[in-house]
Amino acid sequence: MDLPYDGAISAFFENEAPDDIRNAIKRGSKDDILNPAYPHSERMRRKQYEKELRALQIELAKMQNWAKESGTRIAIIFEGRDAAGKGGTIKRFRENLNPRGARVVALSKPTEKEATQWYFQRYVDHLPAGGEIVFFDRSWYNRGVVEKVFGFCTDEQRVHFFGQVPEFEKMLVDEGILLFKFWLNVGRAEQLSRFLARESDPLKQWKLSWIDVEGLKKWDDYSSAISETLSFSHTLHAPWTVIRSDDKRRARLAAMRHVLIAIDYDRKDTRAIGAADTLICGGPDIWD
Ligand code: ADP
Ligand code: AMP
Ligand code: MLT
Repeated sequence: MDLPYDGAISAFFENEAPDDIRNAIKRGSKDDILNPAYPHSERMRRKQYEKELRALQIELAKMQNWAKESGTRIAIIFEGRDAAGKGGTIKRFRENLNPRGARVVALSKPTEKEATQWYFQRYVDHLPAGGEIVFFDRSWYNRGVVEKVFGFCTDEQRVHFFGQVPEFEKMLVDEGILLFKFWLNVGRAEQLSRFLARESDPLKQWKLSWIDVEGLKKWDDYSSAISETLSFSHTLHAPWTVIRSDDKRRARLAAMRHVLIAIDYDRKDTRAIGAADTLICGGPDIWD
């Protein structure tokens, strides 16, 4: 359900945003990271980013070849608040892959019929076949977060979900599916700044929905729903990888690198992959 552009984001920015958030955005220059707690003080330079991106995309292409040859199935879940950078990260991941075998799954809200099914059922249809990499742009974790914040499910349904999710994921992993779960973490000022950019760019307005607009007022509700979700679903067999994503470029590289480090594919070049940036990429303990 998309809203036509109506200036709701700038109205929120001017009239309702907390002062520290509004001031951080007003003061911020193009290179500043708006979150004072972010471990790097400046955004990564474009040149450096492009160099690292290229090296990682080459490795991803090798990884895909290996997956096809070996029939390996890979599922990568991207979660995070609105505007955390899920779509942009997936786009760079897939940029130089063979699209046949690197699918994006971005499901809309459940239809009336789907709403009567087992909650995981419609996602099961989209799990990878042999040789496929599937990128989930949002996932079954909607039930943990957005559905809670907006009241789209009952608390009973959510508790039931938390009971099932570890077992569901255990089945996927026991099946041999390589499962990655990324939580992209974005600060409040950065999120609002990205929303403002979307609102003023006709090419980005499609990304804004009434959920985003209403969600602006629900930052703290989101925080508690996220914190619960991470703690109920961070398991040994299917751990979360949290990426601090206030710097989009570092976040994209971190996600790719994490997958490449974890998988043993043919002709892997560990030097080209480089080391993980553990300041921005870790477990739920780095989420805030
Ligand atoms: P996105 O951020 O993915 O572009 P939205 O911010 O509009 O999309 O919605 C966030 C998520 O909430 C989506 O996955 C959407 O399917 C889900 N959602 C929206 N409305 C409902 C609903 N009535 N019931 C369940 N889920 C919903
Ligand atoms: P990229 O999209 O990879 O070119 O990364 C640069 C992005 O950072 C731009 O699209 C901007 O939306 C975003 N950006 C630049 N400056 C700021 C800022 N001060 N606050 C928030 N976002 C910014
Ligand atoms: C993105 O930046 O691609 C988002 O995380 C998607 C959204 O706006 O919800």
